[in-house]
Amino acid sequence: MPLKNLYIKPRMKNELQQLESSALKALKEVKTLDELKDLEVKFLGRKGELTGILRGLKDLSPAEKPEMGALSNTVKKKLEAAFASKQQKLENDSLEQQLSGQFFDTTIPGKSRPIGHIHPLSQIQEEVERIFSQMGFSIADGPEIESEYYNFEGLNIPADHPARDMQDTFFIEGKDHKDHGRMVLRTHTSPVQVRSMEKYGAPLRLIVPGRVFRNEATDASHDHTFDQVEGILIDENISIAHLKGVMKEFLTRLFGKEVNVRFRPGYFPFVEPGLELDFSCLICEGKGCRVCKKTGWVEFMGSGMIHENVLKAGGVDHKKYQGWAFGFGLTRLVMMRYGIDDIRHLTNGDLRFNHQF
Ligand code: DAH
Repeated sequence: MPLKNLYIKPRMKNELQQLESSALKALKEVKTLDELKDLEVKFLGRKGELTGILRGLKDLSPAEKPEMGALSNTVKKKLEAAFASKQQKLENDSLEQQLSGQFFDTTIPGKSRPIGHIHPLSQIQEEVERIFSQMGFSIADGPEIESEYYNFEGLNIPADHPARDMQDTFFIEGKDHKDHGRMVLRTHTSPVQVRSMEKYGAPLRLIVPGRVFRNEATDASHDHTFDQVEGILIDENISIAHLKGVMKEFLTRLFGKEVNVRFRPGYFPFVEPGLELDFSCLICEGKGCRVCKKTGWVEFMGSGMIHENVLKAGGVDHKKYQGWAFGFGLTRLVMMRYGIDDIRHLTNGDLRFNHQF
């Protein structure tokens, strides 16, 4: 070992002790958090005094290194603890100072963080999904931007068919599908009928809750965007009687009391025969009131036996299988359930409305 290195260890020891005592002394004088920060940088910072001393470690003999390493660690820990407790003290003092002389009412409730909750539309959707799942239906989904083929042709609504006028559509410009025509914002959830037949084949039992769009002049009962639920059941020996049973059971479970349903003839190109389903008014229990327009019945949904052309479009063997489909407005169901008088409340994002549910 070179002679000069003999002195390194005692010198380092000395320096460490000096550092410790001068740091602790300086710490006593500190009055503010800023001063404390500066002092910490001076002694313990990356370019501070302790680092400076530790640079000498590399010149020590292998036998000396661990001893001095341990000593410097002890000093470092001690100083860090002292700095931390000083910081705590200064922070407490400053809080006390801020509050001293002021009236501080400890009984004022704290700031509460508002907790969000599920939108009424989603709440009912979850309930609908739960009830149909219990009856063995799967839940399916489909694209909101749909091709003309799935939205219309596949459902037995050719381009020149007057039924197209029943649903005024938003077209997406310049995004035509390579063989399925123009792209549209789907006007109903029915396109998922053919899509799911193609994907899963028969037998089939599922519902499709989803958002749909129409070019509507908006008013209290019409919006350009609303939600529907499509239902479809395909199997052997299926009849309208099954539809009636399923819907009566569904509505009874949803409303928590016995509901009756009735059919009226209706026209939809994708079903034959086509039917409208009404349910008995829950407000007047069939006696006739304002909600049911004195009829005792509330119009609920379109339905019918799936048209042969639709089964063919979905690749289902229409000689072996038959089925029914229905579509109802989830948005309207929510409005009925909660007595909401304007459809636009549901999507305008006003939290005063949402918080009522
Ligand atoms: N898609 C129709 C509409 O939006 C509703 C509908 C009617 C769906 C009859 C069906 C059905 O599945 O069979 O007006």
